[in-house]
This record gives sequence, structure tokens and C-alpha cells, in this order.
Amino acid sequence: MNSAESITTTPHHAPVQPIGSAGEALAHESAVLHVTGSASYIDDLPELRRTLHAAIGLATAAHARVQSINLDAVRAAPGVVAVLTADDIPGLNDFGPVVHDDPIFATSEVQFHGQALFAVLAEDMHAARAAARLAQVEYEALPAVLSVDDALEAGTRVLPDVSLRQGEVDGALAKAAHRLSGTVRHGGQDHFYLETHIAYAIPQEDNTMKVYASSQHPGEVQLQVAHALGVDAKDVVVECRRMGGGFGGKESQPGQIAAIAAIGALRTGRPVKLRLDRDDDMILTGKRHDFRIDWEAGFDDDGRLAAVRFRQSTRAGYSADLTGAIADRAMFHADNAYYLPAVAIDSHRCKTHTVSNTAFRGFGGPQGMFGIEEVIDNIARHLGRDPLEIRKLNYYGVDERNTTHYGQRIEDNVLAPMTTELEASCQYASRRAAIRQWNASSPVIKRGIALTPVKFGISFTATHLNQAGALLHVYTDGTVMLNHGGTEMGQGLFTKVAQVVARELQIDIDRIRVTASDTARVPNASATAASSGADLNGKAAQDAARKIKARLTEFAAAKFGCREDQVEFLPNRIRAGNTELSFAELAHAAWMGRVSLSATGYYRTPRIAYDRHTLSGRPFYYYAYGAACSEVAIDTLTGESRVLRTDILHDVGHSLNPAIDLGQVEGGFIQGMGWLTMEELWWDDKGRLRTHAPSTYKIPAVSDLPPVFNVRLWERGINSEDSIFRSKAVGEPPFMLALSVWHAIKDAIAAAGDYRLTPQLNAPATPEEILRSLDALRAHLASEAAAA
Ligand code: MTE
Ligand code: MOS
Repeated sequence: MNSAESITTTPHHAPVQPIGSAGEALAHESAVLHVTGSASYIDDLPELRRTLHAAIGLATAAHARVQSINLDAVRAAPGVVAVLTADDIPGLNDFGPVVHDDPIFATSEVQFHGQALFAVLAEDMHAARAAARLAQVEYEALPAVLSVDDALEAGTRVLPDVSLRQGEVDGALAKAAHRLSGTVRHGGQDHFYLETHIAYAIPQEDNTMKVYASSQHPGEVQLQVAHALGVDAKDVVVECRRMGGGFGGKESQPGQIAAIAAIGALRTGRPVKLRLDRDDDMILTGKRHDFRIDWEAGFDDDGRLAAVRFRQSTRAGYSADLTGAIADRAMFHADNAYYLPAVAIDSHRCKTHTVSNTAFRGFGGPQGMFGIEEVIDNIARHLGRDPLEIRKLNYYGVDERNTTHYGQRIEDNVLAPMTTELEASCQYASRRAAIRQWNASSPVIKRGIALTPVKFGISFTATHLNQAGALLHVYTDGTVMLNHGGTEMGQGLFTKVAQVVARELQIDIDRIRVTASDTARVPNASATAASSGADLNGKAAQDAARKIKARLTEFAAAKFGCREDQVEFLPNRIRAGNTELSFAELAHAAWMGRVSLSATGYYRTPRIAYDRHTLSGRPFYYYAYGAACSEVAIDTLTGESRVLRTDILHDVGHSLNPAIDLGQVEGGFIQGMGWLTMEELWWDDKGRLRTHAPSTYKIPAVSDLPPVFNVRLWERGINSEDSIFRSKAVGEPPFMLALSVWHAIKDAIAAAGDYRLTPQLNAPATPEEILRSLDALRAHLASEAAAA
């Protein structure tokens, strides 16, 4: 073997990396398939002969006893093959991920308007959907608790209240030079993934089941389906090649969809596909938790916080779902970037007769940060200071003032230099002055600006979830099959993990095939969530690659008669002593030499430990940081708002893929902007969600992008922990950069009162809400004038 001609051995030449290695701004592995329409989503899979289509019958009462349910008309409808109710479930009628309070089908009691009562199986989807509307159900209405305020009054909870206390709050509040208090609210958010929930269940021999599910957590779907069918985990295989978006909405919710499809498949012996109609998806499945936050803060003349008290009340909906962990994360992020010398947080996980809220990008983090940013903004306006000044004054320190209210010491704080850099690059100070001047001569249109930071803790707060597995095969032609427990939802996880393997094995990325997430290949995987997909699965895949590399090294040293430390992996080839050969040649030779070319990999995050009962310890491996500055304009006659410019600086450590990371930063920010400015969920007094389609629920469009949108990854970023190639998680943190838009809108409203009053604004800042806030401001000014 002689391939030495092609090799550059100049010693001072930096080692060339193979194509697509970790760190390269490579396109998403499915980019071409996405844009040519050939990436297959579950609904694109070729349908098997005799496939049935399912639709769900939804309850039409918020809280009621079911007196009778007549499904005769449903059964008699054209094309209908079977109808499923709770009685058809051979196993457990439950898909609750943590607490078992989520029936697949409601039985005697309905707990929200839109809850699943039954499912129809028909020869085609339209027949199923039409038949599902023909049920005759008699309800005896029960009192419905719909809002957080109702729940606080009625005392209803899905989980017990949780309190966190750190320091002498009462004393510090009493002694503080200034005290302020208030109440602020923000809404929920629909995930609006392009692909609605879907599952395709195919019965297999001997009561086993194969399920294709659009799920961030195939391992959990496997268990939920097994429990529903009354079989074991070994009898169910769940696969997901990709989702058309998840955003947290497919973390715990797919279990119900998959279970219904699987029950249908078991009952009829035919494949069953269940794909939700957009309206049904929005009505039936959980959303972001909305919060009411009551706060009280004490601070000194400079605006430095002495103590703060939060009461965080969230609408969980009818069941617990993931509310416990989400509300915990809201408590953990009640500091955002600020040192709180004394803090008391009471968290109420309110039970309401509405859909059960669930994970959504940020998972309580945005909610927690919303509260403290409100406090900071109020302090600044009360003192007549620039909110950015008060923000920086209260930032966590590096050597002191660096311990969070849950006892974790912050060791990697880079917010001060990042803020300085962003302030300079976006010309914050001069633009702020110019905006104030401009506002003085603009009676109708007002502009506002705000620069806000993000500090977001990375890791699942439930410590045991911070583990991952991978499976790697090297074939005799030197190509690689890569599988891991993570799921692809558009975020680029499969690309990044493949890049890790490319770097580790020193092979071009096109020699690696990433295969669908599959419970039969990698078992017991955690949900792809908490932004930790690349951190966990990247490390697990690296572990598998290193095992194979070690075997190849040992084999090559023996075969080519050199020491193991003389075996070098170069791009797509190996040098063993004086011999060079391609990776493919080595793989083939190793196979001939009877060396195993398949390995599993495993990883668990080190250094994390946290006591759920005292809410203290080190729940997070590290923090991700970012800062954003947004400028907006509002029309004080119509209440409309627009973002004019946004500048972002975000820390992803050593990026695994700067192109994908930039996409995540931009997409996260825009999604956050949607949450805070336009996406409004509205339930009527009967508990019916009236915003269940794009006609009534507005998500950001291309035209809502800031016309000037400067997004940069922080070049100096590095992860101080031993994360995969020193990168940082990026999926969720940028979402919260949108708080800059929110506070810029408040700044613009404040301009309408000459910056003397603090605007009262609840999210989302729809035109109605902005007008309401302006009206309140004007009324206040008028009463002041009358009194004078
Ligand atoms: N990006 C796209 N395109 N689609 C998604 O569904 N989900 C977000 C984020 N970015 C999402 C996304 C959420 S909620 C999380 S937790 C992370 O991606 C999950 O993936 P990761 O851990 O691999 O970053
Ligand atoms: Mo993301 S909310 O953790 O799925």
C-alpha cells in the first residue's frame, strides 16, 4: 500500500481537518432534502396496504361529568371501521410523563374543552375527521376554573406549592432605601411546528408494535405505548427520523397520539396513522405556561437590589405533565443575570380546566427572567436612570456576588465583557440619545431601545436525565453508520453529532450516515430537550468513536510493527510507523484481522448534583450567555409596533457549527419576539380556545424580521467545562434575547409620558395591549394635571 504521494507532511503546516469536521460551518445534513421536498416526515412514508386513518373526538365542555355518550352516528358514518374509547385500552388509560393524571381518553369526567373522548378509525383521513364530529355527548356541567386568578382564589393546584428562601428578605426589604411592587403577566404560546403531531403504528407478529412517532422522546413514547397496550418495553419499537419542529411541544405530548394509533392497530390488526389537523393540534395539545408574577423589591439609591420577593403563579392546565420541572426552572431563572442578595420565591402550579401546558423552548426560563427584568426596568424608571445602567450594576460579579439563590457558584460569567462589546458595536449610548431627541418631536410615533442580557443554565434539572448513548458501526468500506439517542427537529443535532465523529475518526462527513432515532438501537434515551442534545449525544458518539479508534490503533500497531503512539489518524487516512493507508483500507484490514468495528458509547454529565427538596446545589453544568439590543417604533394611535433593528452577541463557546448556531440564535430570538409581541392565546368564558388556527393566532412572518439584524457569535467564547470540543448549548438560550424587544416597547410607551412614568404592560404586546397601556399612562398624566 502506498498512498504517500498525496500527503503533505510539512511539520509547520496546521493539520488539515477532514471535510465537515466539528467546528466547520457546514449546511444542515438534510438541507438539500428539505428544500427539494425529499426529506421524509412521517406522513411521507409510503403507506402500507390496509392502512387506517384516525381522528380524535374532542370534548365540548371545560369541566363536566359525562352523563352519556352515544357514538352510533360515528360508527355508521361512511368509511368508518372502528371507534375506540377508554374501554378499548388493554393496558393503562394514561400517558402522564411524571404524574399519572393524563388519561388517553377521558371517561366519566371531562377536564378541558377539547380533551380526547374517543377516536375514529376510517378508510381515509377525511372520513375519520368527519365522523369524529358526529358524537352525541350529554354533559352535566361542573364549575370550571379557567385562569390563574380563578385557581388562586379556588386554591386548585396540580402539584404542591414550592418555596425558595435565601437570605433575610423581610429585614432587607424593611431597611431598603426604596421599595417597589407590582404584578405583571405574560401569555402562553403555541408551538406552531410546521408538522403537527403524528404517529403511524404498524402491528407486528406476536402482539408487538412498531411506531413511527414525531417525538423528541421516542424512549418515553415506547413506554407509554407499552403501558397502554399492556405489553413490555421489549415489545414496542419507536422510530423518528426527524420532526418538522418540536420546540418542546413534542417532549411529553406525543405519547397520547402514539398510544391511540397503537391501540387502533392492535384492535384492528391494521396499520393506523393519526395525524392531527392544525386546529385539533392547537386545541388538544399543551402549550407554553402563562404566568402571573407578583413582585416586591427593595434597593438602594443607586438601584442596587437588596432583596426581592416573587410570587410566580402559573397555569398548568388540568394535569401535571412537566409543570413541576418547568416551574422549578422558572424559579432558578428568577435571577436571570443578576445577583440577588436576598430572595423569596413562592411558586404556585395552578390547576385549571384548560389544556395541560407543557415544555416550550426555555422551559420556564423565559418566564422566570420576565419577572426580574420587569423589576429592573421598574427600578430604573423609578430612579430616572437608564435601565442598562441598573442592569449592569446588578450583574453577577466574577470573584464576589457570584452565588445564585440556589447555591450554585457562577464560575464562567462573561456577561460584563459581552455587554461592553455589544454596547459599542450597536452604538447603544448614542442611539439612545438620538431616539430621545427624535421622540421629542414625534407626537404619534414613538421609538424605544433596550439592551438585555441572558444567562441560561444548561442541564436537565432532574439530574438522572443527563445521560446519553450512541451506537457506531464502521463497515468494511470505511463508511460509518451513526446512531444516538437524540432526535432531529430541525435544530441540526444530527449534523453536529456527525461532525463530532468526523473529527474524532478524521473522516469526511459524507462517509457518515446518521440514522433515525430508534429505541431498538439506543435504549432509554432522554428527551432531546434542555438544549443538551449536542452536549450529551456528541459526547456519547465521541466515546463510541474513541473505542473503535483504540481498537484500530492497537490493530495497526501490531500489523505494521510500530508502537501505538506511532499510529496517527490523519484526514481520511492513517499513518502507522512508516506505513500510510486510507481509513477504508484500515477498516477492511481490521475486519480481516477479526477486530470488532462496532461500538456503543455512553456519557453522563459530570459535576452536577442538586437536591430537589431544598432546591439547592449545582443543577447546571455551565451557563450560556447572550445579550441583545433592540430598537422599536410604536404607533400611539393604533398600538402597532415594529422592530427596527436588533443586534445580538451570543456565546456558544467553540461552536460545533457556526452556521447552524447562527440559525438557532436567529430563530430562537424571532420565536421569543413572537411570544412577547403578537402570539396571543385566547380562551372564552366557556373555556374554549378561540385562537386555534393561523387566521386568529399570529406568528412572526418573514416581514416581521428586524430590517437591520446583526447577529454575531461571540468570538472569544469558550466553555470552561469539558463539554464536547468546548462548545455550548444553543437551542433555547437565544429565545430569551427577545426580552430586549419587550423592554424596547416599554421604553417607547414611556416616551409617550416623557419618561416620567413606568408603563404597565402585560405580554404579549399586541396593539390592543399597547393601547391599553398608553391609555392608562395618559389617564395618570391627566389626573396629575387635574390635581395640579
Ligand atoms: N430548532 C428547530 N429548528 N426546531 C425545533 O423544534 N427546538 C428547540 C431548539 N431549537 C427546536 C429548535 C428546543 S425547545 C430545544 S430544547 C432544542 O432545540 C433541542 O435540541 P438540542 O438539544 O439539540 O439543541
Ligand atoms: Mo426544549 S423546551 O427543552 O424541548
